[in-house]
Formats: sequence, structure tokens, C-alpha cells
Amino acid sequence: MGVRLKVNGAIHELELAHNALLLDVLRDRLGLTGAKRSCDMQVCGTCTVLVGEEPVSSCCFLAHDAGDDEVQTIEGFAAADGFAVVGAAFAEHNAFQCGYCTPGFLMTLKPLLARGTLRSREDVQREFAGNLCRCTGYRAIVDAICEIAGIAPAPGRDAAASAPTGQQR
Ligand code: FES
Ligand code: FES
Repeated sequence: MGVRLKVNGAIHELELAHNALLLDVLRDRLGLTGAKRSCDMQVCGTCTVLVGEEPVSSCCFLAHDAGDDEVQTIEGFAAADGFAVVGAAFAEHNAFQCGYCTPGFLMTLKPLLARGTLRSREDVQREFAGNLCRCTGYRAIVDAICEIAGIAPAPGRDAAASAPTGQQR
């Protein structure tokens, strides 16, 4: 079936199977490999992109369901004004190691910053409960996001106490 997708400001006319997943279209048809596949079951958040301004798990999202809404990926965010501050904070806090999870965290972050709804460390822990990281122990990520959102740091807390809700380990 013919599908018209707007991705990072560009229009793509594609012939896709009715059940084509957005993650496969982005990675395999459009060469946008920032969104990653991991769990493939809407648990880990590595595949997060925006449809409209809403984060979705692109591993479980049908491409044709994007409709007229623009799809935004990490490639688009990375090219946008203001991304330098975000990237610098992640680098400064060592908020990634392998980096596999990072695009998902950043695409979850983008609309939260736009809405200005991150006001506390607890907000960050709650909002990122759907993003898993197997390298950092989370504290560095939470620290970086707090800095970006203008939330005061919480020195002296251990990594488990800083993990997003439900992901303590
Ligand atoms: S790969 Fe999509 S949520 Fe894990
Ligand atoms: S930095 Fe490796 S999974 Fe998060």
C-alpha cells in the first residue's frame, strides 16, 4: 500500500506492507538507524521516536498509523537548535557508555522539555521508567536530564536510588 510519511521535515512516498513497522521503515527504507531494536515488545524504549509530539515504541507501531503526523527521530533532534546543550550534558555526566539506549532517552526527553513538565528528580525518574539502560546504572542519565531541565542535583544518592521508577537493580 502507498504510504506518505513525513520524517524529520522530509516527505517520503513509500510502498509498504500493511503491517510494516515504523522502526523497520526508518532503519531499512530510510536509513535512519538512530532508533534501535532491542526487546521488540514495547518494554525497553530503545526504539522511541515521536509521532506528532508523542513518544511511541516504533518496534510496535505500524508505519501507516503515523497518518499526517510528522515522525521525528534522533537524527532530526540532533540537527535541531538547542541539541548541543543536551548532548553536552550527556557527555559531561557520562550519561552513556555503549550509547545503545541514548537515542530512546533523548526522544523521550524532547517533548518533556518542550512542555516544561520536568520539575523534580522524581519527575525524571517517573517519566523515564520506560527507558532501560544496561550500562550506566541510571544515575548519570538522571543527573544529565536534571541539568538540562534546570533541576537541582541530588549529591550523595546512590545509583539505585536514582534509577527511573521500577528499574532499580
Ligand atoms: S525495541 Fe521497542 S521498546 Fe524495546
Ligand atoms: S549506555 Fe549502554 S545501554 Fe545505556
